[in-house]
Amino acid sequence: MEYMPKDKTAVPPPTEYLPQHIGIIMDGNGRWAKARGLAREYGHRRGSEVFMDIARYCKKIGIRYLTVYAFSTENWRRPPEEVSGIMDLFREYLREAEEREQENAQKGLRIRYIGEREGLADDILELVDELERGSADKVRTTVNIAINYGGRNEILSACKRLAEQCARGERTPESLTEQDISDNLYTAGQPDPDLIIRPSGEFRLSNFLIWQAAYSEFIYSDILWPDYTEQDFDAALEEYAHRSRRFGGV
Ligand code: IPE
Ligand code: IPE
Ligand code: MG
Repeated sequence: MEYMPKDKTAVPPPTEYLPQHIGIIMDGNGRWAKARGLAREYGHRRGSEVFMDIARYCKKIGIRYLTVYAFSTENWRRPPEEVSGIMDLFREYLREAEEREQENAQKGLRIRYIGEREGLADDILELVDELERGSADKVRTTVNIAINYGGRNEILSACKRLAEQCARGERTPESLTEQDISDNLYTAGQPDPDLIIRPSGEFRLSNFLIWQAAYSEFIYSDILWPDYTEQDFDAALEEYAHRSRRFGGV
């Protein structure tokens, strides 16, 4: 759809030009802290606050799905103190989200966890489960938080599940479709991300939604995630609205 809104100065762009699903690689926390002479954990803390602001903003403007990359399956390679600091932030966030569950549900906000359960502490898994038990009647915005998430691992798990079905004789390999893979990912039932935003000056996916991103638009910027603002987000939405998506057609 060519970008032709009645009011070209509208910020953010009108709903019909907004992406349904946005993925964000929340990167640059460490560099943000370093630039201020602070420990990396301060960057992660500020980054989690920015996440909460942007998630609220997404709900306000009617973005239906937001998926944020918070911790990858590869991030375990970091020093143990940094990893445990990040895990504590998740605990804090999940507890707070659980306390606000009622309020969020009324406002149509649903929070989901996506990622590999193995490797996460039991108390974090319990918090995630509690949060997922609650459900909003009319979900306006779903926020997927990717913790211990890896795209290759996600695809491998889907393949294993389908292979088991074949081994049990419930399916034949010939009958398998791309949709079967999509249906066995954490994001099953959700549209693929229309837009993936990566701040912090890196130009890569780092194993984020690699199956789902087949036709996503990408927007990169030099801003470090803890500095990211609603205005930066609006600018990305504006840029997205001008993109011409062809999906292989003309
Ligand atoms: C993203 O920020 C947060 C996580 C990966 C957990 P980084 O910690 O990667 O920040 P930089 O890239 O080192 O600046
Ligand atoms: C990607 O950032 C993961 C998250 C933002 C959670 P990284 O900082 O881990 O990615 P690389 O190492 O620069 O590719
Ligand atoms: Mg990084």
